[in-house]
Amino acid sequence: MVSASEFAATAAASPHVPFGLDGVVVADTRLSDVDGEQGRLTVAGYSLEQLVESHTFEAVVGLLGCGRTPALSEVAQLRAALGEARLGAHRWLAERRGRSSSPECMLALRAALGSYELRSPTPEPEATLELVALASVATCHWVREQQGRALLEPDPNAAHAADLLRLMHGRAASAVEARALDVYLMSVVDHGLNASTFAARVVASTGSDLVSAVTAAVGALKGPLHGGAPGPVLDMLDAIGTASAARAWLEHELAQGRRIMGMGHRVYRVRDPRACVLERAFQTLAEGTPALAARLDLARAVEAEAEALLAARSKGRALKANVEFFTALLLDALAVPREAFSGVFSAGRMAGWCAHFYEQRSTGRLLRPSSRYVGPPVEPGR
Ligand code: COA
Repeated sequence: MVSASEFAATAAASPHVPFGLDGVVVADTRLSDVDGEQGRLTVAGYSLEQLVESHTFEAVVGLLGCGRTPALSEVAQLRAALGEARLGAHRWLAERRGRSSSPECMLALRAALGSYELRSPTPEPEATLELVALASVATCHWVREQQGRALLEPDPNAAHAADLLRLMHGRAASAVEARALDVYLMSVVDHGLNASTFAARVVASTGSDLVSAVTAAVGALKGPLHGGAPGPVLDMLDAIGTASAARAWLEHELAQGRRIMGMGHRVYRVRDPRACVLERAFQTLAEGTPALAARLDLARAVEAEAEALLAARSKGRALKANVEFFTALLLDALAVPREAFSGVFSAGRMAGWCAHFYEQRSTGRLLRPSSRYVGPPVEPGR
């Protein structure tokens, strides 16, 4: 019989990949690349900075779907088709109102997706547009329902980001606000093999359907270590209140063994490039609004203190601001309630999940890793 210690030694010696799969490559993708050392995000051949500078969210959805920037006429078609898809999503959600309601936005979204049947299951662009529209409209409707306000009907002729803000708030967004949300949606549209995208690809690899894959992805994104951090970032900024209180507050959190939300990343060893892009978008939004400018000053002070404290604690491991840090500020400035932040994230990332679903399916290969057994050995005669 193998003793427990012999067994543990055997288990430890067996080949295995890093705990957490860090650095393990399990897919080839044309969609996006994350360079964690240099802090670069590439999306289908564009740097993130180029992407947000020269595209709209609708164009990026097209770019991920067909691998090239759509011509202006195609973008106009995509915009109209996404508008129609929002209307379709609204009708479907309004009909089944109450059936998937939940006090948690991501649970409501998961429930809606769980019972959703695609109207266009086969053609790639249409199915993607349907699901992008569903996640977007479901999140806006969830906000309205939580506030006890009537649901609004999408305007199929409007730009996607502008329409989402109107659906949520019941007033037309300014051009600057609409642009800020557009930049946000593009910034989060795809990000290598993050946990939710991996979840979607695993489901895709089994031959399962698109809705099942993106429902799994929503479940993964809901976790605070992945997409659930921006709400707590805002809680942190509120609790800190003034720059002078930042150090003591952060030290106390760390002493309690808690993580600083919005800081650190599995891949980036420098500041997350999405944080930089969103910080700039927030700065534009804050121009001429002293309250927002003060918020930005506070956030920068907290970021600097957190970075210094984390550097002192984790020598050799750089923990810098991630996408969630400035997501919190930006979405809050757009009056998105913090409980809906992950829903808005899903609305952007949905396009990436769908593109990864089709890419994974095209390989025809089942993703099926192995585990290392560390349980008790079999005892003969038991
Ligand atoms: N605050 C405090 N400590 C942190 C930290 C944070 N935000 N992020 C990592 N650490 C510490 C860990 O406690 C660990 O310390 P230890 O070695 O003494 O145990 C060390 O850094 C390495 O952490 P690990 O969990 O291995 O890193 P990871 O690669 O899994 O971390 C995250 C990635 C994102 C999960 C992590 O940085 C985190 O939890 N951040 C806060 C949540 C967040 O903002 N999520 C959004 C991500 S986009």
